[in-house]
Amino acid sequence: MKTEKSERSQGVTTRVLVAFASERGGTAEIAEWIGAELRRAGVDADVRPAGTVSTLDGYDAVVVGGVLYEGRWHGDARHFVRRQANALARRPVWLFSSGPLDDSARDHRIEPVRGVAKAARRIGAEGHVTFGGRLERDARGFMAAQLAQRMAGDHRDRGAVRSWAAGMAAHLRTPGSAPTGTPGRAGASG
Ligand SMILES: Cc1cc2nc3c(=O)[nH]c(=O)nc-3n(C[C@H](O)[C@H](O)[C@H](O)COP(=O)(O)O)c2cc1C
Repeated sequence: MKTEKSERSQGVTTRVLVAFASERGGTAEIAEWIGAELRRAGVDADVRPAGTVSTLDGYDAVVVGGVLYEGRWHGDARHFVRRQANALARRPVWLFSSGPLDDSARDHRIEPVRGVAKAARRIGAEGHVTFGGRLERDARGFMAAQLAQRMAGDHRDRGAVRSWAAGMAAHLRTPGSAPTGTPGRAGASG
């Protein structure tokens, strides 16, 4: 099934949608980094908030990224996958989560939270990765402000994001090749 989906993406120009769900901008920026790396690798990429996407027509492959809050993927990412489940199941899809406010995402592969794992299985995702997160010192909102007193910082690893996207671009060009550029962390399991 994965091979069939990947073969569909073999065209002259592959067009990828990077759909993201972010609350405070950190995940949106990761999505932009992915889009930029895909374009650098010769893949046509659009980066859009998941909540604004009503059709996947015209896209050969999709990346869905969502921030983690209180152990859950952002609702816009969850609803996007639910809404577009059939269309996603027909395309190669990669998922990412962002959140940990420490170096854990740098140090080892972090499994998707339950809802993301379920979504990955449902659509036959090619892979999932968890990237570190960012919380600004002056974050708004009661919980965020409380957390920021102890955990403010930027743990996003732009190099890891870029190599993950580069692996994806390579995979889209040559289905069957490794879908990740960061072995051991940004792995292919859903
Ligand atoms: C109230 C609150 C709850 C959070 N819960 C989680 C969590 O369950 N898991 C996690 O990895 N990160 C968690 N985080 C960290 C955020 O995911 C991180 O700050 C993220 O990068 C924010 O992304 P955004 O700027 O796109 O909203 C939490 C942050 C806040 C403020």
